Amino acid sequence: MPPFISFEGLDGCGKTTQVKLLADYLTQRDIRVAVLREPGGTPVGESIRTLLLSSRNRGLLPLSELLLYYAARNQNLHRQIIPAQAEGKWVLCDRFADASAAYQGFGRGLDLSLVETLDRMVSGGRKPDLTLLIDIEPALSLDRARDRNRRTGLDEGRFEAESLAFFHRVREGYLQIAAREPGRVRVLNGNRTIEELHREVLGLISTLLPGGQVDGME
Ligand code: TMP
Repeated sequence: MPPFISFEGLDGCGKTTQVKLLADYLTQRDIRVAVLREPGGTPVGESIRTLLLSSRNRGLLPLSELLLYYAARNQNLHRQIIPAQAEGKWVLCDRFADASAAYQGFGRGLDLSLVETLDRMVSGGRKPDLTLLIDIEPALSLDRARDRNRRTGLDEGRFEAESLAFFHRVREGYLQIAAREPGRVRVLNGNRTIEELHREVLGLISTLLPGGQVDGME
């Protein structure tokens, strides 16, 4: 079965850029790739994304929020991830279930057992083969995310309205998940150039490549 790799981190950590660079690298080596994101990926998932991220929906309760993320995940897993792997494609997913544990569990304070229960319902507790967590300071995350929303004009501002304390809790959650599952979740220092991070990503995925070797790397 081709690998399923998720990318995680605070908003603005640079994961979307790294997903794209890795997808380009793999495609150039004739490896077929499905690039997906959560929430999103399917028409239903993209509608749920609009609903979840819109700054108009500030009244969303934490449990409603969690259920909506899992509704999008259910669509993504069964309509995209599993079929893509069955077709022989590597799956690169911009966020997956760890985001729910970090944001809704640690960030919003929902009981983590709720997240685990939904995980079992949706995916039978199945996890990515590898998760790359790009770690940055919460203050930097907020600056970058606000700047991006201003530049793109997208109405994806609901999370950027959160306090710095919220992002500290989310980061702490991600680091706890990584400490609990060091074999699956690898932490990358996000305070580096795009190219440096890309080289580290290539080093981490090298064992999954046919032949286990990244070009130009010893
Ligand atoms: P993105 O901008 O990285 O695509 O992520 C969208 C936002 O949704 C981001 O603020 C993190 C948040 N999120 C959650 O709170 N829980 C989840 O399960 C997922 C997938 C994302």
